[in-house]
Amino acid sequence: MTPSWLYLLPFVLLANPTQAQLPLIPIPAKMERMEGSFPLSQSTFIQFPSQVEGIGDLVSGLKTWISAFPKPGAGQKHNMLAFRQTPNIKNPEGYRLLVSPQEIRIEFVEPVGAFYALMTLRQLADSLGNVPCVSIEDEPRFTYRGMHLDVARHFFPVDFIKKYIDQLAAHKMNYFHWHLTDDQGWRIEIKKYPKLQEISAFRKETLIGHYSEQPHRFDGQRYGGYYTQEEIREVVRYAQERFVTIVPEIEMPGHAQAVLAAYPELSCHGNPVEVATTWGVFEDVLCPKEETFEFLENVLLEVMDLFPGPYIHIGGDECPKVQWKESPFCQELIAREGLTNEEGLQSYFIRRIDQFLTDHSRKLIGWDEILQGGLSPNATVMSWRGTEGGIAAARAGHDAIMAPTSHCYFDYYQSRRPSEPVAIGGFTPLEKVYSFEPVPAELSPEEARHILGAQGNVWTEYIATPEQVEYMAFPRAFALAEVLWSPAEGPELREFSGPAKSPFAEIESPLRPAFVRHRV
Ligand code: ACM
Repeated sequence: MTPSWLYLLPFVLLANPTQAQLPLIPIPAKMERMEGSFPLSQSTFIQFPSQVEGIGDLVSGLKTWISAFPKPGAGQKHNMLAFRQTPNIKNPEGYRLLVSPQEIRIEFVEPVGAFYALMTLRQLADSLGNVPCVSIEDEPRFTYRGMHLDVARHFFPVDFIKKYIDQLAAHKMNYFHWHLTDDQGWRIEIKKYPKLQEISAFRKETLIGHYSEQPHRFDGQRYGGYYTQEEIREVVRYAQERFVTIVPEIEMPGHAQAVLAAYPELSCHGNPVEVATTWGVFEDVLCPKEETFEFLENVLLEVMDLFPGPYIHIGGDECPKVQWKESPFCQELIAREGLTNEEGLQSYFIRRIDQFLTDHSRKLIGWDEILQGGLSPNATVMSWRGTEGGIAAARAGHDAIMAPTSHCYFDYYQSRRPSEPVAIGGFTPLEKVYSFEPVPAELSPEEARHILGAQGNVWTEYIATPEQVEYMAFPRAFALAEVLWSPAEGPELREFSGPAKSPFAEIESPLRPAFVRHRV
């Protein structure tokens, strides 16, 4: 429980504005508040190095934003916002933001730093454009600051995906993991395989209520959809403009029942199956035959053409081995390749895809089950069943991204209120997320360098609308954003307090965080 006296704190701080907590999430690495403020207005002069690629676009966004602020009153002097590129900022994502009553100066080394300075500025400014005087020197703690969204169990429109990306960028998160395929639906247009759109993208109905409720009931409504390649390109461009890299996920060899509904010849048995209408883990999985690899490679060629980022996520989680055990083909392959068992076959599967992606200058990410039977040479592990997978990967010299269910699953309940909408289960309240330490204490400093960061996951079995995604993802994602950006040990004890109680709470801004943190 937050002590009730804490709620009075902002009013105490209000008496001394230089000590008031600024409404910033994530909190900058170094920040000093000073007297006074700078009035941003539509006539603020903007000076920028136009030769630096990308800065012009940031300035046009800035001009649109400040055009909403009032003109300066008569007698008020013109003021300036200046961008300066400087080699003495070491972190490419780092920036300095210096606000005095006459001038705002943004120092950066790469455009992404200037972008983050602007995100900070947007959180600082009030609705009239007044920016408190501050000196901020900022850089992220981790290079991978991610959020995931499952669009397979439920499908969300492009406009919402953009809104989600806006929120990530506003809180300085830089990876969007787009979970595009699963048993219940295939959501990305692949021109070479039209049945993925015609068949895999739609299920005949959907389970009603929680999976544990028996008997299962269904809504009888056909459900589905997919993003066209044109829409995907538009989202990729939109994310790039906000310095967010998209990690597309194409699930294999498990969680692929929707594929088998269209192309049953890619299973070991070849029998007809349907796009799944319930949740869980299904035994119908891809068979590691040449035909399957040819299919997957052709799919990945189109995926790589659409997504320019370094990473391709290939799933790899929750692949039951029942059909591989029963398949003479798989057993022969295990013998021929000298593999120990079906886990070795999973490793063989992932290694082949890893080689293909590496040959195309991309990096494979997989859920921690890709450790089964031996990790493929270039793989990055996304650790979800606790942090053990990430620890094992880092110890083996591989990169890892932490996304343990304990702290990073935002499809879990966030409170014990009886009014909570039905969720998958679990309990991950905001404070738990905020308490997350992505680097396990048992790693040496050398091993710890392989922990690139962490990611919040939003699985959507029980999340059918954009509004509910927002309810589940935020503010927990903002707490994670701060875990990943801000220094591990701040100079003061910090509390991420829940609904805004600060003097800034009344102020509306399109990118204002819904929550503020208090110094205690
Ligand atoms: C997962 O939650 N199956 C990665």
